[in-house]
Amino acid sequence: MSFLSRESRALGPSPSGRLTSIRLAAFLLLAAVSTMLATTVVSAGSLPPCRLADTMTAQRSLADWSRTVLDLTYRLPTTYVPHDLRSTAAAGLNGGNQVRAFIVPDLRSMVAAARAAGVRLAVQSAYRSFATQRSTFAYWSRVSGYSDALKSSARAGHSEHQLGTTVDFRSYGGSAAWYHADWGTSRAGAWLTHNAWRYGFLITYPKGKSSVTCYAYEPWHYRYFGRPLAATIRASGLTIREYLWREQTTPTPTPTPTPAPTASPTVEPTPTVEPTPTESPAEPTPAESTAAEPTPSG
Ligand code: DAL
Ligand code: ZN
Repeated sequence: MSFLSRESRALGPSPSGRLTSIRLAAFLLLAAVSTMLATTVVSAGSLPPCRLADTMTAQRSLADWSRTVLDLTYRLPTTYVPHDLRSTAAAGLNGGNQVRAFIVPDLRSMVAAARAAGVRLAVQSAYRSFATQRSTFAYWSRVSGYSDALKSSARAGHSEHQLGTTVDFRSYGGSAAWYHADWGTSRAGAWLTHNAWRYGFLITYPKGKSSVTCYAYEPWHYRYFGRPLAATIRASGLTIREYLWREQTTPTPTPTPTPAPTASPTVEPTPTVEPTPTESPAEPTPAESTAAEPTPSG
């Protein structure tokens, strides 16, 4: 009997020991579930707070132009320079500014559609290099002071203008949009608010969203995504920063491993291609002027 008792102790825990084991297992299970939940919440994309830092953005190749997260924290390298810049005059706008070639057809269509609706748009600023952005931010720091400049001007590397896919608009013949109380309520600004997405452009810093965009309301600043993605982002109801962050941090499903090698040949990966224009070019709109815009830029 005593042998059996010893043996049973050797084979398994006593009732009180079993209870401790069950508690321990339950605790470990709970801890594992909590960790999984916490990981899921973080990986499902909790938007980070607006924090001043100089962290290199993860999507920093030229092909990542529609996914690149840029804010107070994340930036592009100094060497990020699009190789396909074209004058905005190619889109029927004033010259003196540049955008990436693949946005020209949709930009031209948008400008023509605005014109047909009685709205004439002009470009205040488009592509800005790292160095130009440094001067731009320095200008606004001198004018408004460093902490106010941070609310409306990106530090070098942090601006969407460096992507070559972002345009600051103004009304044709008018002053820079930021000199207006709310350019978004002007004819040109309101037309863009309602229609720009149809041509692939979205406002990056909408009204009332500073806590998530990290910058003040900028009704003139539009970033290009192409028509399908612009429609998707708009339908999400999220700002660009929220949407891109969510996409970047949502875990991709783990592919099911193939149990054994198959005899069939491996499929070649599809090469990444630049987006193709979604509409044939419209008639060019007469340009306002081909002269370069003076500083400042927004
Ligand atoms: N005005 C925006 C934040 C920029 O400088 O890119
Ligand atoms: Zn801008």
